[in-house]
Amino acid sequence: MSAPLTLVVLGSGGRLGAALARGAAQRGARVLGFTHADLDLACPDALGRTLAPLAFDALVNCAALTNVDFCETHPEAAFAVNAQAVRQIAEICDRKRARCIHISTDYVFDGTQQTPYAETDPARPLSIYGKSKRQGETGLLAVNPAFLAARVSWVFGPDRPSFIDQILRRARETADLQAIGDKWSLPTSTRDLVDWLHPLLREQPLGGLLHLTQSGQACTWQEYGQHALDCAAAAGMPLKGRTVGFQTLASMATFIAPRPIHTILGTEKFTRLTGIVPRPWREAVEEYVRELAAR
Ligand SMILES: NC(=O)c1ccc[n+]([C@@H]2O[C@H](COP(=O)([O-])OP(=O)(O)OC[C@H]3O[C@@H](n4cnc5c(N)ncnc54)[C@H](OP(=O)(O)O)[C@@H]3O)[C@@H](O)[C@H]2O)c1
Repeated sequence: MSAPLTLVVLGSGGRLGAALARGAAQRGARVLGFTHADLDLACPDALGRTLAPLAFDALVNCAALTNVDFCETHPEAAFAVNAQAVRQIAEICDRKRARCIHISTDYVFDGTQQTPYAETDPARPLSIYGKSKRQGETGLLAVNPAFLAARVSWVFGPDRPSFIDQILRRARETADLQAIGDKWSLPTSTRDLVDWLHPLLREQPLGGLLHLTQSGQACTWQEYGQHALDCAAAAGMPLKGRTVGFQTLASMATFIAPRPIHTILGTEKFTRLTGIVPRPWREAVEEYVRELAAR
């Protein structure tokens, strides 16, 4: 039996980081989690001071400036956290010969391709968020090509509310529901992501870029929200709204950053390398909503 893994999780207060820290501990890892309050990635001195003295086998960076519009208006902060810190983290891991996995995004693509993007497709980010995350990927892999940049999309899970939670909350209050119906992607459950990431923590040969999302027919926010509502109604959740209306991306007056239209990540590489086939997003959403309804 191999020795228990010592795993550093950066961003352990976030939606994915919290799920990963919990899931890895449940699988026997010794987890050293750092929230934003514990460690500010925008501060290179603090990063070096905190991580350099630690002994660990692997690190997963789930911390990021994820507010796309905030990034657009604060490019310096976006590049500091999403790019410069990632390179520094990679250098620290490399010196320690520790495995480094960094979480990236579908927003590295320009969204003009209607079929699923492969890892080999060129990244052409539209926004500062996308550009800073892309620079994070390239910095990580320049330090060590055996490190892994795992791109995910539309992440949902119990540790921090996301689109599903927002649409269900609104549906309990009003019948007036709308969501964007002309932008496509695939949702990703943090529960499944933790299952997929776990075997990758030890596998040094699996490096480079990797797409990790649920499978199934790509959906719009409107379809995603409608499915969540249908599952909630079937689970007996009291709802005032049962139908999600259509809204265009262009009508979103509060959006500042440009958003890519089609960002469907293809997961064939992951399946080829691990044998794991992600389950359909409709199934993962149904399970999540059923558990919410049972609370
Ligand atoms: N959510 C999505 O739909 C989505 C889609 C594609 C890719 N991703 C990627 O998936 C990863 C995980 O995202 P998530 O959904 O878990 O988002 P999240 O809940 O916003 O988690 C990000 C975490 O990073 C922390 N953070 C922000 N600035 C920091 C800093 N300067 N120093 C240290 N920590 C900082 C945040 O803390 P505070 O909140 O306390 O500031 C938060 O805990 C990110 O890399 C993101 O780019 C997410």
